[in-house]
Amino acid sequence: MENEEYEKGLVVKYIQKVQGLEHIRNFAIIAHIDHGKSTLADRLLELTGTVEKRKMVEQFLDRMDLERERGITIKAQPVRMLYTARNGKVHQLNLIDTPGHVDFSYEVSRSLAACEGVLLVVDASQGMEAQTIANLHLALEQGLEVIPVINKIDLTISNPDEVRKEVAEYLGISPEIPLLVSAKEGTGVHAVLEKIVESIPPPKGDLNAPLKALVFGSEYDVYRGIVAHIRIFDGKLSLHQEMLFLSTGVHTEALEVGIFTPEYTPTGELKAGEVGYVVTNLKEISVCRVGDTLTEARRPTSSPLPGFQKVKPMVFCGLYPAQEEDYEKVREALEKLSLNDPSFTYEPERSPVLGFGFRCGFLGLLHMEIVQERLEREFSLDLVATLPNVGLKVILRNGKVQEVENPALLPSGGEILRIEEPYMRAHITAPAEYIGAVMGLMCQRRTDFIKMEYMGPRRVLLQYLVPLAEVIVDLSPRLKSVSHGYASLDYVYESHRPSDLVRLDVLVKGKMVDGLCLMVPREQAYMKGKEVVQRLKEEIPRHLFEVPIQAAIGGRVIARETIPALRKHVTGKCYGGDITRKRKLWEKQRAGKKRMKIIGEVEIPQNAFLSVLRRKENTS
Ligand code: GTP
Repeated sequence: MENEEYEKGLVVKYIQKVQGLEHIRNFAIIAHIDHGKSTLADRLLELTGTVEKRKMVEQFLDRMDLERERGITIKAQPVRMLYTARNGKVHQLNLIDTPGHVDFSYEVSRSLAACEGVLLVVDASQGMEAQTIANLHLALEQGLEVIPVINKIDLTISNPDEVRKEVAEYLGISPEIPLLVSAKEGTGVHAVLEKIVESIPPPKGDLNAPLKALVFGSEYDVYRGIVAHIRIFDGKLSLHQEMLFLSTGVHTEALEVGIFTPEYTPTGELKAGEVGYVVTNLKEISVCRVGDTLTEARRPTSSPLPGFQKVKPMVFCGLYPAQEEDYEKVREALEKLSLNDPSFTYEPERSPVLGFGFRCGFLGLLHMEIVQERLEREFSLDLVATLPNVGLKVILRNGKVQEVENPALLPSGGEILRIEEPYMRAHITAPAEYIGAVMGLMCQRRTDFIKMEYMGPRRVLLQYLVPLAEVIVDLSPRLKSVSHGYASLDYVYESHRPSDLVRLDVLVKGKMVDGLCLMVPREQAYMKGKEVVQRLKEEIPRHLFEVPIQAAIGGRVIARETIPALRKHVTGKCYGGDITRKRKLWEKQRAGKKRMKIIGEVEIPQNAFLSVLRRKENTS
């Protein structure tokens, strides 16, 4: 009962009108991973009474289990707060939480386009890092007001004064300006709220103009269809209004209009300057694209909002059911998952050796991991994933351009004029003493150095052009390892550029395994071929027969290893009838088998597919 009363009160409180645009503030929080974005959002929700204290769980806006466990934000979650400022006026503060990871940088840029300002959160024990800088640049490009916040000042190892100086220098402001905060303990958070009211400009907008709203996110609801998350720039949106998505030309009716408290809370209307949601009658998420302009059907706006792009997957891999009879289950799971994630693509593919499966496209490696983990977790599927690869543009001699998402389907050498691969602009931050180590590593990765600048006396920012294929191998962990964990990496797509690449085929017991083939730079092909066969020798278990493993280019074998036949029974070493040990071994084998593919008569474990990508680093 008490709860119901509370909920009712809450809705009334939110519907309560905040008079005029000048009392609205729309903002986002940007930060490097783990610098405390979600924790600061939790404190803001608490201080404004948006979420009742006893209902508060850590990282409230990270709703997915996966987000909580990994401590990352995957899907942006907006929320409206009401705050009575020191001047006595009630303000409507719309916080748009953004996913921080590079894979989602387009989504971040659209969330930022819905705001007038950002809180730039920097960990006082770490300083500015690559992701902070990449996201800060996105905010500055859009002309947003930046409020720097130095977080975690409660940590004894933190150095707030130095980090304050570093941030101030980078932004070209006085060192007293960045706010000092402990989001964990709540210190300084009130000042953040006041600063938001004081410094972030209120939205502008013409209430009488045709509706112009930015779609910055969306969600699929099984019962209600697509729910679009929107920021209104001009006009207003009311219940039952006929709407039009400009990029797709799709018309639909507004079935419900409301705000995020953070639960969906109907208000019947949204006006210029406000952030909220609209329930549409649409069932396909692809018609409601992030970055699109939503307008009214009868009187469409003549000027769509800038910055719209159709995001394209960058990284691909094949997903195959470990047991072939699960194919239908995998198809259904992919279909369900893609309802909520328009940036992930899949299409059926048949591999001569792996059987029936799907070629899936992702925004990046983290996105790929998340989708695979959700498929296994939410749908209890055992999957075998082939090597990830980047999407290539192949220019043919006949003038056509072919997009190749699976290296096994590369046109024959005679048809190819040139191959282009995606290049990224990488930002790397590191303490100055690691410049040599970082540069040494980047030299081995087919990179082009752009520039280096100092951020404060002890840290540097390096910029490179680097092929995405080099990034997805293991660039981030390698950078961490050469810098004892201090370097950080962020990257955004730059362009496709020509590269001299060849396809390295892998044959297991004479059979080409298409899921194991990979594109490599021609000059590294021999070395890579040797490495791959050695790795596979370590990863593929011994069988009752010899298993030759070969690497080949254009049908010519360039490296070979042989896995010798197994002679003894696998449990033979468990002498003396120790049945518990035997059982343990059998169970371990059974569990391992689940994630295996049997190719010919050879069992290839999941790890073998991934091991091929790992590389030996030249440490000299
Ligand atoms: P992503 O969602 O991955 O981008 O991370 P985030 O920036 O949202 O960071 P999050 O809020 O999840 O915080 C990361 C870790 O830092 C958590 O373990 C927090 O408890 C901790 N943390 C956040 N703020 C503070 C603080 O002020 N002091 C201390 N000591 N720890 C903090």
